[in-house]
Amino acid sequence: MSRQNRRSANGALYDFATDSSAGPTDVDHVGHQFDLVDRQAQQNTNPLSTGLRLERVPAPCVMVIFGVSGDLTARKLMPSLYDLAVGHPLPEGFSIVGVSHRDWNDEIFRAEMRKAAEEGAGAPVTDETWELFAQGLFYVKGSFEDEATYTDLKTRLETIDEERRAHGNRLFYLATSPKFYAPIIRHLGASDIAHRQDIYYNRPDNWNRIVVEKPFGRDVESARALNAQIGAVFSERQIYRIDHYLGKETVQNVLAFRFANTLFEPVWNRQYVDHVQITVAESIGVEGRGGYYEDSGALRDMVQSHILQLLAVIAMEPPALFNGNALRDEKVKVLRAVVPPAGDGVAAKTVRGQYEAGYVGGREVEAYRDEKGVRPGSRTETYVALELGIDNWRWAGVPFYLRTGKRLPRRVTEIAVEFKQVPHLMFQSVGHLDLSPNVITMRIQPDEGIALKFAAKVPGPSTQLRPVRMDFLYGSAFGEAGPDAYERLLLDAMLGDPTLFARRDEVETAWALMQPIMDGWDEDGQPIYPYESGTWGPSRADAMLRRESREWRRP
Ligand code: BG6
Repeated sequence: MSRQNRRSANGALYDFATDSSAGPTDVDHVGHQFDLVDRQAQQNTNPLSTGLRLERVPAPCVMVIFGVSGDLTARKLMPSLYDLAVGHPLPEGFSIVGVSHRDWNDEIFRAEMRKAAEEGAGAPVTDETWELFAQGLFYVKGSFEDEATYTDLKTRLETIDEERRAHGNRLFYLATSPKFYAPIIRHLGASDIAHRQDIYYNRPDNWNRIVVEKPFGRDVESARALNAQIGAVFSERQIYRIDHYLGKETVQNVLAFRFANTLFEPVWNRQYVDHVQITVAESIGVEGRGGYYEDSGALRDMVQSHILQLLAVIAMEPPALFNGNALRDEKVKVLRAVVPPAGDGVAAKTVRGQYEAGYVGGREVEAYRDEKGVRPGSRTETYVALELGIDNWRWAGVPFYLRTGKRLPRRVTEIAVEFKQVPHLMFQSVGHLDLSPNVITMRIQPDEGIALKFAAKVPGPSTQLRPVRMDFLYGSAFGEAGPDAYERLLLDAMLGDPTLFARRDEVETAWALMQPIMDGWDEDGQPIYPYESGTWGPSRADAMLRRESREWRRP
């Protein structure tokens, strides 16, 4: 028996057997086997990590990735699928069909995907493990707009269904440029590769689901049009709009923190909360995606999707159940109560910026306007700061400050809930006070964790108070990282669990919130403020908070 036990970069133990006598094993009909990870033994190493691993096994299926030669497949999808296959039993005969215009065949496709897995997967790629995984990889060459591509795809899928017993179960994944979404969906319907399933969407055989990547439209109108196009072929229950932030463990932990503890929810409202800050800072620039980014900008790329999702989970009411509709109903409800700046408010309550040359992490970097694919006089924002209000019983009058930017000093995503000062401070007359308000900080990435800042007495005979921190760190509490966001979401889509995907009304509501801001910025003479790469954005954003006697945190 040859068995390799390795620790991956994130500390998870992968256990891959190459001998059928090795432990409990899933043997599929084409004669290869994925070893079942000995989950019990792994969990025994740290009782706190029970539940960290992805436990459920989906029904046999074929995943069809459109745009398989692109950046997303190489950076995210393939490494995650490989990690899933190695660290978790994927269904027997699980197969991937890649579709792209590139002049590849099965062999080249497999070689390219191996490079992607070697580069991005947490699990080690060995000849043995790769061989097993690659047996399920197939390639169809063709244009997304050409009927012949779908004829070839159909034949290929029928063969795979027969040889690898996928029972007609198909997960389509749109990883192409959004301009191809409509033709792909139309052809899938017309060629009878995909079919609408209104009632038996969860049946074990012949299920079809489609995962749609962001950007989901570029404004309300285009999002509605796209929803209608997809809705003509798939029912809502078959549509999985992906926002990878929802797959992040720490984002899901916001739900646990709020709704599985008695302590915090009673103070989670306008009586006690002064304001909330959500920061998604990136040190990277546009990384060769200038063409895409020029048409997008930070508001569309980050705020409409990831940041509004963070806002929704932090501000929503407690759902009665933890399931797709109960959770998404509450998210939509709170998003509908959000009041975005409009008219004159756009200039007062939003700041957009664009990075200039500078230094990030000691490395000299070029200005946004000098990046490949960016117009020389571009007015696309790479930074946004804005203030939103939420007009409901819980949050009326509490400002939510959001900001995101590229080429900031470091990568950090955090949500900070800052509480009001105590109503009366008896210590005032007796000692030296360095009092800042209580803050709960949820660190989404990196150094995932939750911190509570509160006042403590400095040891000694005098009464001196100073803020101190109480820290919970994922790494030390659980001893290992959870699955990558894409791993979690891909598995959920295969399992037919839409809880962590955006629903139609959610996406449209989020776009509707962005519309007045986009309209305001489109008016003549609206400024865009330059900032030096490696700084925390334009000083105008600091001024925006200072006007309200507050300041941005320095995460
Ligand atoms: C993507 C955006 O959705 O999220 C990118 O298009 C951004 O511009 C990325 O860099 C950030 O994701 P993460 O997981 O690295 O925070």
